[in-house]
Amino acid sequence: MEDRAKTHTLLEEADAFARSRLSETRYGHTVRVADTTEDLARAHNLDENRARLAALLHDAARETRPEEFLRLADEWDLPVGEPERQSPKLLHGPVAAELARRELGIEDEEILEAVRAHTTGKPGMGPIALVLYVADKIEPARDYPSVGRLREQAREDLHGAAAESLRRAIGHNDKRGRATHPASLETLEWLEADHTAQSRVEQK
Ligand SMILES: [Fe+2]
Ligand SMILES: [Fe+2]
Repeated sequence: MEDRAKTHTLLEEADAFARSRLSETRYGHTVRVADTTEDLARAHNLDENRARLAALLHDAARETRPEEFLRLADEWDLPVGEPERQSPKLLHGPVAAELARRELGIEDEEILEAVRAHTTGKPGMGPIALVLYVADKIEPARDYPSVGRLREQAREDLHGAAAESLRRAIGHNDKRGRATHPASLETLEWLEADHTAQSRVEQK
């Protein structure tokens, strides 16, 4: 009971935190992602509250200025590669995770990993991170030709849906002549190699 009350408070705090840092449009996206994440977590027998908490926090740093991302990453010793230097907003996941730790006292590594990895993916990412990654791409306001199929697949096969989202993102970048973040390529490779084994585990 006490635990449940604590979780409830944390969810409210995370919601208020996101609302205070984001425009109405982005806060709206955040709440839709939270609802989608919670729903998918339930479908896959995961802890829906922890999944929702990660989702409420995922874009909380999205409206930080580029130079501020780099300053915070430097101050907090977050990994910054060439892609992050060129496009500092890639740091919005890692910075949000660090803010969640410092300002809301969240130490749950699975939640922090989900927030950190939601933009590029990460090889070996856990189920909460996968649910958030996919929910971010299929929340109800997302509109692209394959989204309907992806919404269905996400309920059946999380790894397959994440792999499909990554293929789509990579295809999108290729078409625009943009490089894909190495972490996304590695994540897709991991998912493709791991897919068969994982779906066997999930069916148990
Ligand atoms: Fe994001
Ligand atoms: Fe998002």
